[in-house]
Amino acid sequence: KAIHLKDYAPPPYLIDTVDLTFDLGEEVTRVRSSLQLRANPVRLPDGAPVPLVLDGQELKLVSLAIDGRTLEPAEYAIGPESLTIFDPPAAFALEVETELKPQENTSLEGLYRTSGNFCTQCEAEGFRKITYFLDRPDVMARYRTTITADALKYPVLLSNGNLVAASKMGHDGRHTVTWEDPFAKPCYLFALVAGVLVHVEDSYVTRSGRTVTLRIYVEPGNQDKCDHAMRSLKKSMAWDENVYGLEYDLDIFMIVAVGDFNMGAMENKGLNVFNTKYILARPESATDTDFLGVEAVVAHEYFHNWTGNRVTCRDWFQLSLKEGLTVFRDQEFSSDLNSRPVKRIADVQRLRAAQFPEDSGPMAHPIRPDSYIEINNFYTTTVYEKGAEVVRMIHTLLGAEGYRKGIDLYFERHDGQAVTCDDFVAAMEDATGKDLSQFRRWYSQAGTPELDISGEYDGHGRTYRLTVRQSCPPSPGQPVKQPYHIPLALGLLDPQGADIPLRLKTEDVPKGTSRVLDVTEAEQVFEFADVPAPPVPSLLRGFSAPVKLRMSYTDDDLTFLMANDSDAFNRWEAGQTLGTRLLLGLVEDRAAGRPLELSRGFLDALDKILNDPALDHAFAAQALTLPSEGYLGQQMPVIDVDGIHEVRGFARKAIAAHLRDDLLSTYRALGGNEPFAIDAAIGRRSLKNLALGYLMSLEDAEAVELCVGQFHNAHAMTDVIAALGLLNDTHLPQRDAALARFYETWKNEPLVVDKWFSIQAMSERPETLAEVRSLLNHPAFEIRNPNKVYALIGGFAGGNAVRFHDSSGAGYEFLADQVLTLNGLNPQVASRMVKLFARWRKYDDRRQAFMRAQLERIVGAPNLSPDVFEIASKSLQAA
Ligand code: ARG
Ligand code: ZN
Repeated sequence: KAIHLKDYAPPPYLIDTVDLTFDLGEEVTRVRSSLQLRANPVRLPDGAPVPLVLDGQELKLVSLAIDGRTLEPAEYAIGPESLTIFDPPAAFALEVETELKPQENTSLEGLYRTSGNFCTQCEAEGFRKITYFLDRPDVMARYRTTITADALKYPVLLSNGNLVAASKMGHDGRHTVTWEDPFAKPCYLFALVAGVLVHVEDSYVTRSGRTVTLRIYVEPGNQDKCDHAMRSLKKSMAWDENVYGLEYDLDIFMIVAVGDFNMGAMENKGLNVFNTKYILARPESATDTDFLGVEAVVAHEYFHNWTGNRVTCRDWFQLSLKEGLTVFRDQEFSSDLNSRPVKRIADVQRLRAAQFPEDSGPMAHPIRPDSYIEINNFYTTTVYEKGAEVVRMIHTLLGAEGYRKGIDLYFERHDGQAVTCDDFVAAMEDATGKDLSQFRRWYSQAGTPELDISGEYDGHGRTYRLTVRQSCPPSPGQPVKQPYHIPLALGLLDPQGADIPLRLKTEDVPKGTSRVLDVTEAEQVFEFADVPAPPVPSLLRGFSAPVKLRMSYTDDDLTFLMANDSDAFNRWEAGQTLGTRLLLGLVEDRAAGRPLELSRGFLDALDKILNDPALDHAFAAQALTLPSEGYLGQQMPVIDVDGIHEVRGFARKAIAAHLRDDLLSTYRALGGNEPFAIDAAIGRRSLKNLALGYLMSLEDAEAVELCVGQFHNAHAMTDVIAALGLLNDTHLPQRDAALARFYETWKNEPLVVDKWFSIQAMSERPETLAEVRSLLNHPAFEIRNPNKVYALIGGFAGGNAVRFHDSSGAGYEFLADQVLTLNGLNPQVASRMVKLFARWRKYDDRRQAFMRAQLERIVGAPNLSPDVFEIASKSLQAA
């Protein structure tokens, strides 16, 4: 069942052109496919006959012909997932006619229905649910797509490329259009959309002067929620021209937003399909986070046009070739548009919250995996976010100019091809002369490396020695790791807090005050000269590598870095390190029955941040946020769920009590309903809501009044949701009233109802599981809609540690029930939910036993999808 990278072989046949005709119907949809095929010269130099094995799933074959001749039953065989033609000619036209029932497709993969419309999702292997095909990315063909459908039910008919023909409605009430995509592409980039849709239109003139029509299609009623997405698209197009020299290549770029979508969005050539969550945004109904998400995902999918579509992946093991690179590109885009340090902090938080746990659990895999059972399970935070970190490290090692040379060479060599991660690294090397052979281990080794660093000052020699040790824990199938090539960015601070010029003993002159060291060995010493006094090192500046750093800082060193580091990321990081240390100490105190007390020095440091008028508000909000429960848990050998929750709550109260007056004046200074904008106002709102959160932890009347007032009067959804989220954790009478009012106000906006579900699912109140169970039966809940599942079930099991891990085990039973239901409806969604059990070994014996029992129950269930089976069975395998 498992597929291995080492078994890769080129396809025995190539497809040059694809001519598709869709006859869309309520009961049956008929697909006619005409393919021009030929034996692959690379694979079959002598032209020896090889059977043609096409992929196909859940299809009904209607007819099959080669060069116009219908095949005899003896000439082919149909399997459950394939169609084999035993002895095809060396070059031929194949005609395949199949029938399918999109209205019964709940997997949202292949051709399916959403709100009465037709829609496709083909990546990774959904095209085989539409027609028999060589469903692999190294088969690239030119497509022509004709769609026929009822003209009233499906007035809008879309596919990839340019519209080349359209008919008026005929006597049968149907109409027909034809689209042609001039660029060869793999079938995973195919898309079709049909239905009642309205669009907003704009245009963009490329650097070379071509005018591109831009359209965003949505369901009627949503056209007033597309402005931000359209602006983001135009900014993305300009950014890619300016930073990467890449222009759009078709006359039209279309986006369709649909309410039922497994993932965020999909980069189909010229016809991106999006989850509405990443298109629709208005200030009163979307939060600042939503706005930033729209901007980032619109950019991400647009950037795929070059990194993914023009140059695609040879096979799915290379997924990070396009995803890691494209995430890096969208991160940099957002950094250039907004605050770079604030974006970097958010990205690192995300990496630590999701990728680090994955990398130390049973599903750990390299960014280029060696094997998989179900490729859909490998659209992971490791392939995406750690993949982006790996590209970022190449950027750091080569510098911006060297990196750009590498990118240019990559496109010069590989435009129009399906290539590997290794091809990408080779282009980077060849363009710059930099040796990345050791660096390639980032692609093949799983696990988060650890850097252990110690410093030693010699006052006589005025030298400072840094000893750097690296290691990487074992991961499934990889007991021993080789040393990585790690870019270590650092600076040294003098006792006044200024950066010292950095001269290694082997150098004649200093090279700046912040520089990147190449760490390549298991243990390495770097010796700095002319260091006037014992410095405080600022290590891994900007989080220059996705590693865990251990350095024996004193608490005073950390408060010093918090106040003085010229690297904003490391100022934040120092506070997090100190906060983590103090909170873990309190967890121990609590377990030992000692009284809890928060250090005075830490409180004073937070005080300084809150009252520093020079600090960016968004940054201050991040710096004043305690490390998350999840992050604290990761630092413990056995996660003490209850201890962490209680201690973090205690610390929040202690901080709030200590800073109460300043929090109040901050709240008042930043409060008020200023006009909505996506700019520095985001920072003001986050700091204001952070202050409100601390104040509410005191549960005093004044805070409650402010919170209820904000809930009722705020114009921006960010502020409404912040207030509602805080009330939601309480037993105040205003809580239920606010939830009811919120639902009444927004019940016709599905994306806002999702927020209502997820807020309740994440409440720390003891009755939450019971409420979640009853919300499953709420009329607005729909288990076939992924966004609803992610909000309610995912919100509870993935965003509410203290309730999900309740020691009764009831949360686990609930999740397993939902996984089994979803398994039969939508395996991809089910698999994302079952992943929430993956870290079961990190908990105490009692919880382990409960979670293991649920995983065993799942693995033993009938009709298990490969998606769920792979995650559940690998989770159970010996650590
Ligand atoms: N390529 C899409 C994106 O990043 C995601 C597609 C996910 N598909 C899947 N089957 N998991 O941007
Ligand atoms: Zn992507």
